[in-house]
Amino acid sequence: MNSRPRRELPEQLFAAAQAQPNIALVKYWGKRDAAFNLPVVGSISITLDSLWTRTAVRFDAGLAQDRFELNGKADAEEARRVGACLDLLRQRAGVSWRASVSSRNNFPTAAGLASSASGFAALVTAGAQALGLRIDDTEKSALARRCSGSAARSIFGGYVEWARGERADGADSVARELLPAAAWPLRVAVAITSTAAKEVGSGPGMRRTAETSPFQQAWVDTQESDLAAARAAITARDFAALAEISEHSCLKMHALALAARPGLIYWNGATVEGMRRVRALRAQGVPVFFTVDAGPQVKAVCEPQALPRVAAALREVPGVLEVVDTGLGEGARAIPAEALAA
Ligand code: DP6
Repeated sequence: MNSRPRRELPEQLFAAAQAQPNIALVKYWGKRDAAFNLPVVGSISITLDSLWTRTAVRFDAGLAQDRFELNGKADAEEARRVGACLDLLRQRAGVSWRASVSSRNNFPTAAGLASSASGFAALVTAGAQALGLRIDDTEKSALARRCSGSAARSIFGGYVEWARGERADGADSVARELLPAAAWPLRVAVAITSTAAKEVGSGPGMRRTAETSPFQQAWVDTQESDLAAARAAITARDFAALAEISEHSCLKMHALALAARPGLIYWNGATVEGMRRVRALRAQGVPVFFTVDAGPQVKAVCEPQALPRVAAALREVPGVLEVVDTGLGEGARAIPAEALAA
């Protein structure tokens, strides 16, 4: 009697996906659970459009171990995190095959441009598709969160909120769209002041902050009202209100991290001068505000008509290497294999 299985699995399972970085306006900093990567606070972000990560994933019965390359080069450091993320997908699908992952960013990696957000959102989206997992964006967001917190937000486009959640298993700590990008198409000028990888990554930085910063409790206690203010500003498309709350959340996160021991200084001179330049423009009536993540780049968010003036002002700041501009875009999505070469 023939004992072959009724359906044979193909020997390879392939898919590709694209995701864009997001920039938090109300920041995520600190974890309440490291294993499930649960945040101590909720956060609100905007997803960008012209910066992207494109990732191809091939699960292959013939592979002895996972492989990961970024921009054409094997990346041993990130391979561990990629492998852990693939494990979550394999577990969910009941598949044990190793995978080959090839990823490409069209912007500098690890310089505070949220490459882990777009990277892991693209990986989860491509991996889930390759494995034929039927999961919605909310579940993808939960999986992406476990790979990198901010990746939970890049599953969605436009204005996005990632809930802190209450559950120990993290099922309610997922992102959702607050407003589509087209409903309020702000622009972002990113002033790149260094392309070097940061000295202290966000994970270790958050840990040090929680253990040593005297402001940790105040950070947690004031986040709910910041989230409510940002949500209201986004719903009303009130630029001045969004500017005020976003700069406050950014400076508060840095004040918290600066007060850790030893203090975390993510800025350089050009970062500070860039923030001052943005403030000076706003004082002249230009609708723009800044935000800065765990790195030295200044992200200036503005109304579309102000973009040329904002980008020109940032280009004049000594130490600014380049100004990249982008609009707001869609969430992570599968793309055809041909798009990878583009
Ligand atoms: C400063 O998402 O990189 O950009 O969860 O450890 O991967 P992990 O951290 P990550 O942290 C981002 C921190 C931030 C603020 C933000 O994006 O909200």
